[in-house]
Amino acid sequence: MQTSPDSELRWHPHLAPWNNDPVPFFHDGTYHLYLQHNPAAPSFGVMRWGHVSSPNLVDWTVHPEAISPGEVFDIAIWTGCVVAHDGRFYAFYTGIRGYNPLDQCQCLAVSDDLIHWEKSPLNPVVLRVPEGYGECFRDPCVFRFGDEWRMVIGSQFGELPVLLQYASADLIEWTYVGEAWRAPDGRFGFDAECPDLFPLEDKWVLLTSRFANHWQVGSFDGSRFIAEKSGVCDGAFLPSEGGFSAFYAGKTLLDGQGRRLLFGWATQVEGPDWKGAIATPRVVRLVDGGLRFEIPAELEDRFVLQPDGSRIATDGPLTEIIDANGHWWTSP
Ligand code: FRU
Repeated sequence: MQTSPDSELRWHPHLAPWNNDPVPFFHDGTYHLYLQHNPAAPSFGVMRWGHVSSPNLVDWTVHPEAISPGEVFDIAIWTGCVVAHDGRFYAFYTGIRGYNPLDQCQCLAVSDDLIHWEKSPLNPVVLRVPEGYGECFRDPCVFRFGDEWRMVIGSQFGELPVLLQYASADLIEWTYVGEAWRAPDGRFGFDAECPDLFPLEDKWVLLTSRFANHWQVGSFDGSRFIAEKSGVCDGAFLPSEGGFSAFYAGKTLLDGQGRRLLFGWATQVEGPDWKGAIATPRVVRLVDGGLRFEIPAELEDRFVLQPDGSRIATDGPLTEIIDANGHWWTSP
């Protein structure tokens, strides 16, 4: 198990020496973050799920590695999601079967306590990308729709991001339903990493990542997501402006207060022997048909009001700015 000094885990949880995407999940008063984790070096490597948890969003405890690489269809454990069903917990993740080209499938691990996970003997539960889609086939997002389970997986059709949808009655057997969304043009990048699709008030929200973390608000009838409004979660330095956003791979949880909290990877944050941390979680709100983000009350005192009306939180190598218009900016 890799641990980090407690002091480094107070504000921005990370697993040293490297982490990227968070997979947030809330249960019984505790916030859990599973993180893409490389215990070998402060760089991307053979990824697996690390795990930290917190009762209050402030103090984080490091747990043993949650899901570790296997030998055949999950030689690395990539991003996914956790759902609860009948008193048990189900983690879906992308199993890497090979690199160059990437060979991805979707796998399941089950737990009774959110700490110890057992891989399903029926893995992989989704074998391979349907005919006609590109290299990206990853980051399953599972949710309840009517009396079924649904899974959306990020993929690409030519140069356009798409979401491929599967349905299941038991979380084990999955049937391909079709495309749930296809980007109309290149503004969302060329594929859809880390999709998160969830209801918010009377709308549905779709988050995807490529170059930046994109949000869309619209409708979902179980078959297609139709966007009405879109934007980026963070003051992204888009490719057209010569860079990218430092806030990436955002995914949400629903907590005990009914708050939809967005957690994202602050990509460029690093200390002496580690790299990659989690940005301050944001409460997701629907305002004028679009998304707004607010500081959770328990983290409010981290942000200092500036004369120009902006608020700034600095924590070691990470600076987060909420400008006077309420837009967030994450910079290393
Ligand atoms: C996004 C991502 C995911 C993938 C994971 C691998 O940052 O590329 O699409 O599952 O990171 O660590």
